[in-house]
Amino acid sequence: MLDKPTLTDAAYDKLFRELQALERDHPELRDEDSPTARVGAEVGESHLTKHTHLVPMASLDNAFDEAELAEWDARLRKLVGDAVDADGYCCELKIDGAAVSLTYRDGTLAVGATRGNGTVGEDVTANLRTIADIPRHLDGTGWPAEIEIRGEIYMTFDGFERMNEERVRAGEDVFTNPRNSAAGALRQKDPRESAKKPLRFYGYAFAVPGTDALPFATQWELLETLASWGIPVAPHRKACPTLDAVHEWARSVEQVIRAELPFAIDGGVVKVNRLALQSELGVVGGRVPRWAVARKFAPDIAETILLDIEVQVGRTGALTPRAVLAPVEVGGATINYATLHNFELVAEKDLRIGDAVQVKRAGEVIPQILGPIPARRTGEERVVQVPTHCPVCGTAAVRDEEEVASYCPNVACAGRRIEALAHFASRDGMDIRGLSYQRLEQLIAAGLVKDAADLYTLTVEQVLTLERFAEKSAEQLVAAIAASRAQPLARLLNALGIRHVGAESAKLLARSFGSMDALAQATVEEIEALHGVGHTIAESVHDWAHDPAVRDLVARLAAAGVRMDEPRAVAADGVFKGMKIVLTGTLPTLSRGQATELVENAGGKVTSSVSKATDLVVAGAEAGSKLEKAEQLGITVIDEAELLRRLGA
Ligand code: IVH
Repeated sequence: MLDKPTLTDAAYDKLFRELQALERDHPELRDEDSPTARVGAEVGESHLTKHTHLVPMASLDNAFDEAELAEWDARLRKLVGDAVDADGYCCELKIDGAAVSLTYRDGTLAVGATRGNGTVGEDVTANLRTIADIPRHLDGTGWPAEIEIRGEIYMTFDGFERMNEERVRAGEDVFTNPRNSAAGALRQKDPRESAKKPLRFYGYAFAVPGTDALPFATQWELLETLASWGIPVAPHRKACPTLDAVHEWARSVEQVIRAELPFAIDGGVVKVNRLALQSELGVVGGRVPRWAVARKFAPDIAETILLDIEVQVGRTGALTPRAVLAPVEVGGATINYATLHNFELVAEKDLRIGDAVQVKRAGEVIPQILGPIPARRTGEERVVQVPTHCPVCGTAAVRDEEEVASYCPNVACAGRRIEALAHFASRDGMDIRGLSYQRLEQLIAAGLVKDAADLYTLTVEQVLTLERFAEKSAEQLVAAIAASRAQPLARLLNALGIRHVGAESAKLLARSFGSMDALAQATVEEIEALHGVGHTIAESVHDWAHDPAVRDLVARLAAAGVRMDEPRAVAADGVFKGMKIVLTGTLPTLSRGQATELVENAGGKVTSSVSKATDLVVAGAEAGSKLEKAEQLGITVIDEAELLRRLGA
C-alpha cells in the first residue's frame, strides 16, 4: 500500500544521498525516473481529480548535523553574501505529516490538494473541509485575491492513539505512525470517513500567482500574518539572527522540545528569513530551494531489554500489554515503556520477557518495539501469557472470539477509571476544555473524582487544593465542566464509552431514540432495527443500559443537570431562529465547535464574516477585526455568558 513504507525514513534518507552522490559522479547514469528527479509521491491511479499547484510544491535538502547546516549556510552566502545577516533565519518545526495546498479565492477556501508529485496533486477539498483547523473563510484583511496556503496535515499522538484504539476495537489493522494515517485519511473516498479521523493543520508557506505584492517581507512576518488570518501556525518557531542562534534552537528542539510536543516532527526547517533573498536564491534543479534546509535529528532507533510486559486496563475494559523497558535513550529522550496494542501482536512479533529488542520512537514520542533480536537469546526468556484476570479488580477476563483483545467486564473497575474519564472529556465526547489526562490524574489521586458524575459536583475550592492550579485556571475548569452539561445526547453516549459504540453509532442512536430514557427502554430488536446498527452493537447497548452500575451513573449525571436528550435537527422555535451569528475570539469555556452546535441547535446559522446581514456577534478574548466591524455597523455584541443565558443553558 502507498501509505505503508517498507523502509525507515533514516534508511531512505541514507540511500537517497548515496544515489545523489553517485549521480553527481556519474551523470551518464541519471535517469528521469530516478527518485532524485521527483518530488514526493507520484500521483497514481486514483479516485481523486488532479489539481495543478500555482507554484510547484518543493521538497527540502537535509542537514544531519551542525557541520552540514554550516555548509548549507556557506553555500548560500557565496551567492548572496552577508545580506542574510540583515533579517537572519526563521526556524520552524518540521511537522511530520502530509503536505497540502489550500487555495483561497477572495478569502474563501476554494480548493484543497495534496502535494502529489509537487506540480500536480489530488483534489481533496471535501476531506479538508471536515478539518476544524482549516478555516472556510480567512479572518482579518490584506489577503490577496487568490492565494495558496501551504502546510501540513498531521495528527496529534493522542488523536492517533485513540484512533488506533478504536481500530483495535473494531478489529481493524492499526496504523504504524501518525504521518501514514494522516496521509491515508486525507485521501479517503468518503469525506465522512476523513471527518472521523483526528486530522489537524499547521500552515507555513504561501504562494500567489504572478508577482502580486505580499503584505509581508520576511518568513517570520508571513507566519504571523497567516496566524492573523486564522490559520494555525506551529509553536516553537524562532527568528534567529545568526547561525549560532539557529544551532542553539535546533539543540533545544532536539533535546527538550521534541519530547514534549503533542505531535510528531521529523526535524526543524531553517529558512532564510527575507523573502526577497529567498527568490534571489531560488530553487535547484526544480527540486529543492537553496534558501531552506531540513535540520534532521539523531536516528530514533535504539536497542534495549524488554524487562516485563504489564497489563493495562483501557476505558472499555480492554486489557492491553505495555512493555517495560530497561531505560534507553532514543532521539534525545529516555524511554521506559513502549505500547504494544494487543497480545496478538506480542505473539506475532514473538516477544519474550528478557529479549533484547529494537525500539523506535515512532513519530518521536510514543516508543514502539520493532521486534526482538533472536540471536541474542540465552534461553532464559519467558513467553508472555494472555491475562486471564483483570490485573486491577481481579474479575475474570472475557474474550470475544471476533476480537483480538480480552477485556475486564466490570464497569466499576478502578483501572478503567482514568481512561474512561479522559474519553468522557475528550473532543469527541463532552469536549471539556482543559480537563487533560494529567489533571484527571490529579483529581483521581486527590479522591475528588471517581466517575463522570463526580465532575459535575466539583467546586473551585476543591480544584484549588490541587497543585498547579490558580484561581483563574480552577474557575475555568469548573466553568468548562458546567458548560458540557448542555452537550447533546449523541456526545454523551459516545463519551460514556459503550463497547462497540463510536461517535457515529452514538449519533444514530441519539437521533433515533431522542432521549436516554427511550434508549434504555428499547429492546435489542428495536435497536438492531436501525439502519447501520448490527447485532453486536445492539446487544452491547442493551447490556450496557441494563447494567445497574450504568443506571446509577446515568441517574447521577441526570441529577447533576446533564442533558439527556438530543435536540431536534433544527429547532423551528429556537431562540436564534433565522439569525445569522458570528463567533469571534476565544470563548472562555466553549470551543468553537460547541458554540456552533449550540447556535445551530437553537435555529441560528453561524457565518464567518460580519456584514450588515449579521444579527449577532459572540465575542471572546482577542476578538480582532470582526469585533471592530460589528461595532462600526452597530451590531449587538454579546459574550459567552450572555450566549448561554439566551440559550437557557
Ligand atoms: S517549507 C520550499 N516548512 O517537509 C519549502 N516544510 O521535506 C518547502 N514540512 O514538503 C516546505 N514542516 O511537507 C516547510 N515548517 C515547514 C515544514 C515543512 C513540514 C514538510 C513539507 C515539505 C517537506 C520537505
